[in-house]
Amino acid sequence: MPFHKDHIYPFLVDVLGDPPPILKIRQRIIPLAQGVVLEIGAGSGANFIHYDSTRVSKLYALEPNPGMIRLAERQRRKTKLNIEFIDLPGERIPLEDGSVDTVVSTFTLCTIPGIVDAIRGIARVLKTGGKLIFFELGLSPDPEIQRWQKQLEPLHHWLFQGLYLTRDIPSLIMQGGFQIEQMEAGYLAPFPKSSSYCWWGTAIPRSRS
Ligand SMILES: C[S@@+](CC[C@H](N)C(=O)[O-])C[C@H]1O[C@@H](n2cnc3c(N)ncnc32)[C@H](O)[C@@H]1O
Repeated sequence: MPFHKDHIYPFLVDVLGDPPPILKIRQRIIPLAQGVVLEIGAGSGANFIHYDSTRVSKLYALEPNPGMIRLAERQRRKTKLNIEFIDLPGERIPLEDGSVDTVVSTFTLCTIPGIVDAIRGIARVLKTGGKLIFFELGLSPDPEIQRWQKQLEPLHHWLFQGLYLTRDIPSLIMQGGFQIEQMEAGYLAPFPKSSSYCWWGTAIPRSRS
């Protein structure tokens, strides 16, 4: 359904994607990005204002949905960042090996279809000493909530264009060749527990640790 994908989904992500508890974590983790930065699934650009423009020399904002890029252009105008949009999926990062200092993914690894390929691609483009900053939604540790997540996943998958509620993102990040450096987790209000269990932190490619 192109109208849903091009208009309604970007609107929903823009309006629902940044309530105060999420905003607070974006404010904490996004300024950690430095140097050449690649943001995977930049969406409507909710992170742009949180980058420290004195530490980020270039931001590649990879986003395959043109409806999202339209909204993100508005956020771009609020910053001094040097932003280049790349309209490709995260499974096909068109950057050189070892060319990026920081990769950022917020609520994208929970959506992207080829997650392990994307994570391997992230490891490929990171320089030695580079890191992945992640903030993602997924599988609750509570079996009762997991049951709800399994039931509600098809609805979320449709409404939010491929969103999974049941991915164990930290395990997938490790499967893709990373070591978690530091991480916190918890339910983030105001959403129900079935769609608000999140992890946020940093990870580094295992071979470089
Ligand atoms: C839930 S939104 C999150 C947007 C933004 N990162 C944020 O924190 O608000 C998920 C984003 O992933 C993007 N996306 C979907 N499939 C993707 C893919 N294969 N590669 C990269 N991004 C993808 C969507 O277009 C959408 O912008």
